[in-house]
Amino acid sequence: MTAPETAPGAAPPDEGTPDEAALRSRAVEALTTARERTALLTSCVDEDELTAQHSPLMSPLVWDLAHIGNQEEQWLWRAVAGREALRPEIDSLYDAFQHPRATRPSLPLLTPAEARAYAADVRDRVLGVLDGARLDATGPLTEAAFAYGMIAQHEQQHDETMLITHQLRKGPAALTAPPPPVTAAGPPAQREVLVPGGPFTMGTSDEPWALDNERPAHTRIVPAFFIDTTPVSNGAYLAFIADGGYHDERWWRPEGWAQIREHGVEAPLFWRREGGQWLRRRFGVTEPVAEDEPVLHVSWYEADAYARWAGRRLPTEAEWEKAARHDPATGRSRRYPWGDADPEPGHANLGQRHLGPAPAGSYPEGASPLGVRQLIGDVWEWTASDFLPYPGFRAFPYKEYSEVFFGPAHKVLRGGSFAVDPVACRGTFRNWDLPVRRQIFSGFRTARDAEPA
Ligand code: AVJ
Ligand code: FE
Repeated sequence: MTAPETAPGAAPPDEGTPDEAALRSRAVEALTTARERTALLTSCVDEDELTAQHSPLMSPLVWDLAHIGNQEEQWLWRAVAGREALRPEIDSLYDAFQHPRATRPSLPLLTPAEARAYAADVRDRVLGVLDGARLDATGPLTEAAFAYGMIAQHEQQHDETMLITHQLRKGPAALTAPPPPVTAAGPPAQREVLVPGGPFTMGTSDEPWALDNERPAHTRIVPAFFIDTTPVSNGAYLAFIADGGYHDERWWRPEGWAQIREHGVEAPLFWRREGGQWLRRRFGVTEPVAEDEPVLHVSWYEADAYARWAGRRLPTEAEWEKAARHDPATGRSRRYPWGDADPEPGHANLGQRHLGPAPAGSYPEGASPLGVRQLIGDVWEWTASDFLPYPGFRAFPYKEYSEVFFGPAHKVLRGGSFAVDPVACRGTFRNWDLPVRRQIFSGFRTARDAEPA
């Protein structure tokens, strides 16, 4: 008997189907991109700086590094490949729930050299078994290489966290990047656009690497509203400051008012006034506040107060997603404002290519069908909404990613910042944080109700 014929162009049997080969290379590429970023963020400072706690709000960089390796060991080496634990004794050190950030420096953490070697060893083993791994329809963890996408997103999320630590650290610049490109097209013609009322599809059931909180797709009815075509700029925010916004209780939620009074907050984090001029410190460089850039490092309370002062309000999470994804011509929800194609550099300021947001009104190629710009990239945008599960939510693969954070304590941020990698950014992607947070790369845009017709 002769060997069964292989169809021309079909992959050899031990490499799986062509789909599996494509998934495998997407998984390897996403993991490799994340590790290159991690290496950059942890190699540009010395060992003392890796183990130092630059802020009580943040872990030492060396904790993030080993935590990245430990999550990868737990999910890709143990859960997916079914192998024995490599370092079970360190699991608890790198469990974010057992040790709050403030206590992490006092733990017997791996040294920088040990942490690097551990993360590299896990990665080598994971890539070693990936060749033989089945990546389609073998179960929810491996279907469409989900766990690989999840771990690449996890590493990239910690790369953003590490960039926040870099921003908080004192001393001269350790990182550099070119400024964002200047837009030839100029600012949008309109300051705000009307998003028509009616149903749209929120969330997703078929985006392969969407995380549990983005699922499932469901219909939301959103009444007509107006939304800003760009994020709120420093120039606009300066008018709020100049008008005494930080000293006028009318604009503030009681908890926000209490926080700014207690801490003497009078401007976004990292700003200071010198000789009648506002300066800001960014990644070790102090420069005048650029009026055309989106405001950055504001809390939810500050965003909410500004909006009230401006006679407007923050968009709800559903309004934000409708503005970003709804195509009025077809009624469909897109993956991104510009369509279904993955982000290209011309669409959005993502991936730490630049170490700050582009001027408000940049990236016309990335605009939504209604002309709303910079929904993706530049600055995370606070929404009015609490972080809550969608109808039909199921925690997957672990409750500690999303479920334990659901409730009124956390507000939703959308759209990603310049620090977010495209793998962890979609029209459906949801971020959340406490409303007092300001060290994150947060800004906002405003909205208002449409007058009833
Ligand atoms: C989704 C950004 C809120 O950093 O706390 C990282 C992401 N979860 N490791 C965070 C995350 C577990 C999470 N955020
Ligand atoms: Fe984590």
